[in-house]
Amino acid sequence: MGQRVLDSMWEAVRRGQEDPILPSARGHEIRELLDAPLPREGIAVDEVIESWVDTLLPLCRHNGHPRFFGYVVTSPDPVGIFADAMASAMNQGLTAWRSAPGATEVERVVLRWLDELVGFSGEGSGILTSGGSSANFHALALAVRKADVSAPRHRQAIYMSTEAHVSMKKAGRVLGVPDEQIRLVPVDASRRMRTELLLAWLHQDREAGLVPVAVCASAGGANTGAIDPLEQIADVCEAQDVWLHIDGAYGAPAAATTKYAWMRDSFARADSLSLDPHKWLFAPVDVGCLLLRDETLSRALFGWESEYTAITQTDPIERFAFFDHGLEMTRRFRGLKVWSILKARGADAIVETIRRDIELREALDDRIAREPSLEHLGSELSISCFRFRPSSDETEGEVDELNRHILETIVQEGSAYMSPTYLEGRYALRACIVNFRTTIEDIDFLLDEVLRIGGAG
Ligand SMILES: Cc1ncc(COP(=O)(O)O)c(C=O)c1O
Repeated sequence: MGQRVLDSMWEAVRRGQEDPILPSARGHEIRELLDAPLPREGIAVDEVIESWVDTLLPLCRHNGHPRFFGYVVTSPDPVGIFADAMASAMNQGLTAWRSAPGATEVERVVLRWLDELVGFSGEGSGILTSGGSSANFHALALAVRKADVSAPRHRQAIYMSTEAHVSMKKAGRVLGVPDEQIRLVPVDASRRMRTELLLAWLHQDREAGLVPVAVCASAGGANTGAIDPLEQIADVCEAQDVWLHIDGAYGAPAAATTKYAWMRDSFARADSLSLDPHKWLFAPVDVGCLLLRDETLSRALFGWESEYTAITQTDPIERFAFFDHGLEMTRRFRGLKVWSILKARGADAIVETIRRDIELREALDDRIAREPSLEHLGSELSISCFRFRPSSDETEGEVDELNRHILETIVQEGSAYMSPTYLEGRYALRACIVNFRTTIEDIDFLLDEVLRIGGAG
């Protein structure tokens, strides 16, 4: 069975680079294919394995394809894929050291490595999560809890830019901060938070009796990759004694490159930082990470003693419990894939791949600048947004419609994949490169396709 499983996994990796990126089957066809009564009796395991490849693989969107440019979705490193299968085989529930001794130490090492990679240095305090949303939630939970001593939730306010990831807005609401006190600070022309407005709003809110609790800055927004003015925001947070959370779910690993090393100084001043190995560190889903400056805070929020989980170990290493630092009790061994990728590839090679992705985005922008019928709308890190605009005669509505048609055709044909966004109300084509397989030929292919479908190629 093991060999068949490995063969089918390898087939998934191989075909994921060759097959059309998106299945052509419609919703009702997929439903009909998969809908079945509860199986009361089993079938041969070989048949089940076969159905992974024969039935399910053709219904997958292939995110590891070299021309997958949608959302913020990485090409998973095969080392991470196999490590993830091994994590299931080991079946470690990372509640506490006593339940998973080696795995717990691996995760703690991984936290220290990630911290070192991006220059945060809370010495590896934090937790691996299911992704960026969960990491952002944990960060805000700590910030609002810390503020509870001086202000009830209905008087607390949190701040982020209008470009901030939706997960932070949701976290604020779930944590009981009133929607109108989740303050969305306007951005400048480059979609970076306007720090002078942040400061003004903090003052105004304090005068109105609210208690500013946290500022959530972005180290790479999901829309255009915009990076907030992190140093200025850190200055404001320090002066105002407000928690600084940086959402680097997508962009934080770029701080390991020379070009974006300047972000490290601000990371070193933040109270918490999210970063997602399942985005730009090439790990398969799911694994995010929250790095934290002061571990006593997570212990104060999440530590809750109960008879059936009591820790009897006295050794400080062996007493450690992840359930004292996060919401989950049983946790998947997510660290194994990150540990394995970092060990097998080496951090330098991974950083070089990140640097190359940024270079590919710059090459994409250069070509957009050279093509008269393409209009650049915004870019940073490895995201570029643009649109097809053959002349200035079309109305905005017609340009939107044309670009919608271009994107839908590319996606339907399955040869490349982008996701759309809206920038100042304009429909934009958005390409995000967090992919170790993408080459300059793939970038040219994408733009050739846009021009061809638009009618200019
Ligand atoms: C900047 C940013 N923050 C948070 C998230 C949420 O991460 P996840 O989808 O892993 O929950 C994303 C997702 O793309 C993101 O780009």
